[in-house]
Amino acid sequence: MKAIFINGSPRKKFNTVKMLEKAKEGVQSAGAETELINLFDYEFTGCRSCFACKVKNSKTNGVCAVRDSIRPVIEKAQEADIIVIGSPVYFGYPTGQVRNLVERLLFPLDTYLVDENGGRVKVPHKPVQTALIYTMNCPEWLMEKVNYPTLLGFTGEEMGRLYGYNEVYYACDTYQFSDYSKYDVNMFPEEKKRESLEKQFPIDLQNAYELGKRLAEKAAEVCAE
Ligand SMILES: Cc1cc2nc3c(=O)[nH]c(=O)nc-3n(C[C@H](O)[C@H](O)[C@H](O)COP(=O)(O)O)c2cc1C
Repeated sequence: MKAIFINGSPRKKFNTVKMLEKAKEGVQSAGAETELINLFDYEFTGCRSCFACKVKNSKTNGVCAVRDSIRPVIEKAQEADIIVIGSPVYFGYPTGQVRNLVERLLFPLDTYLVDENGGRVKVPHKPVQTALIYTMNCPEWLMEKVNYPTLLGFTGEEMGRLYGYNEVYYACDTYQFSDYSKYDVNMFPEEKKRESLEKQFPIDLQNAYELGKRLAEKAAEVCAE
């Protein structure tokens, strides 16, 4: 059983990667082989609309045909039983790098064909247990008001449709700087952020661990079939 964890934050020691590390521990507790990938180590674009994956009798088999630096990651995702993507929220969406990767992963799995019942035809693919973990400044009580469940949830829905399973986790009100006194910031007072760091973030980390464990258990069931 293979699992990959993709850090879509440019920062390699902050909130998103901490959540991914915990999810990784959860998956490892079920004995899976794991790898964490930092997406900002790669320079790549999103889908280039070449449509090689939709050419009649296409031989791409669900893998993006573009051969650039992200190709090894796409190949690892193709082999994985579990894919967990972590992203900070940037202006209401996942980071650009995450969006680029998601386009490259999902578009080749999708087709422009409908079956006799009008349902979307997917490229045959083994079921993959997937999750998206978002971290953000936004406090939980504001999430609905700023429409985040809809804006951020859509990618998860598409991952669920094309891979077979997806969960989305939101870690709100994250601690953004290691030293708040160095920055011009009164919108997010340090005391409030510290409170969230000490009270809520440990709960989020535990939830990330449980999420990883859950995905591994589901993947083990699929592997045993
Ligand atoms: C460019 C930029 C845009 C951001 N936009 C938002 C936003 O729209 N909503 C939000 O809640 N937080 C926003 N944030 C805060 C980050 O999402 C939050 O601090 C996140 O936990 C950072 O993840 P990291 O610590 O792994 O880098 C933004 C941060 C940056 C740098």
